[in-house]
Amino acid sequence: MKKDLLGLKGLSAKEIKSILDTAQTMKLILQQPNKKTPHLQGKTVVNLFYENSTRTRLSFELAAKYMSANAANITASGSSVQKGETLIDTAKTINAMGTDILVMRHNMSGAPHLIAPLVSASVINAGDGMDEHPTQALLDMLTITEKKGGIKGLKVAIIGDINHSRVVRSNIYGLTKLGAEVSVGGPGTLIPQGIERLGVKVFRSVQEAIVDADVVMGLRIQLERQKSGLFPSLREYYRFFGIDEKRLQFAKPDALIMHPGPVNRGVEFSSGVIDCEQSVIDEQVTNGVAVRMAVMYMLSRGGFAE
Ligand code: CP
Repeated sequence: MKKDLLGLKGLSAKEIKSILDTAQTMKLILQQPNKKTPHLQGKTVVNLFYENSTRTRLSFELAAKYMSANAANITASGSSVQKGETLIDTAKTINAMGTDILVMRHNMSGAPHLIAPLVSASVINAGDGMDEHPTQALLDMLTITEKKGGIKGLKVAIIGDINHSRVVRSNIYGLTKLGAEVSVGGPGTLIPQGIERLGVKVFRSVQEAIVDADVVMGLRIQLERQKSGLFPSLREYYRFFGIDEKRLQFAKPDALIMHPGPVNRGVEFSSGVIDCEQSVIDEQVTNGVAVRMAVMYMLSRGGFAE
């Protein structure tokens, strides 16, 4: 039994697979002309976002509405957070209004872990600082599973700002639990010390990281989380670490191109790579709705299959 989804670090392979299986069923609903289902009828879902978002926030809202829940959004900039209310008091206030599911994005790593034991609502981590973004990794794994028939034995190369990325941590936990071989690559200043201990191979050259890769995942350069210049310029980043058509030739010919978004065109990938046939970036977005439907539905029923 699980009340919350705070990260993939604490989930078993079986639990992850059960979410992916349920998301595939939810996807069938999304393909119908009438997407409305009663899965969350009578439940209330609140999105509490302290950081900007397009994909995550909208897909949680749409997922809740497709399942007939009452859905509401609060951003820190338009709330009493601006008057000095603490995160704990804000969460307790939202909980006191009869909220069943609290979806939280916060710039502080660990924020949802702090809130989850203090509220009766199920807390879903929609991205906390540099810690985890579990539903992003789940939608990534659903996309890989659909395109490649499974995850076990695949070589996944993740390139970019490894240090500041919560997406990479959730993907490392999830992908390695399901049997993928994960490589990370990027400038030395953007690779955290000791990341090998999570079971990944580390490369300082993109070419080496993506050799024979089945999946090439780019990560956004997060300038907003960098206190000082960790590389000379975006132009130089692209020159040495950006993935263009020429560099992509080191990966397998049918390698998937993935990115959690938002993408900086001409920084992580060339525009040609973003828009190429192997790119599944739009499918990732579509699968985000199905995954969030699955997670909210399963939590409302007591958790994931153990
Ligand atoms: N991938 C992701 O979290 O995107 P948003 O910031 O737009 O939600």
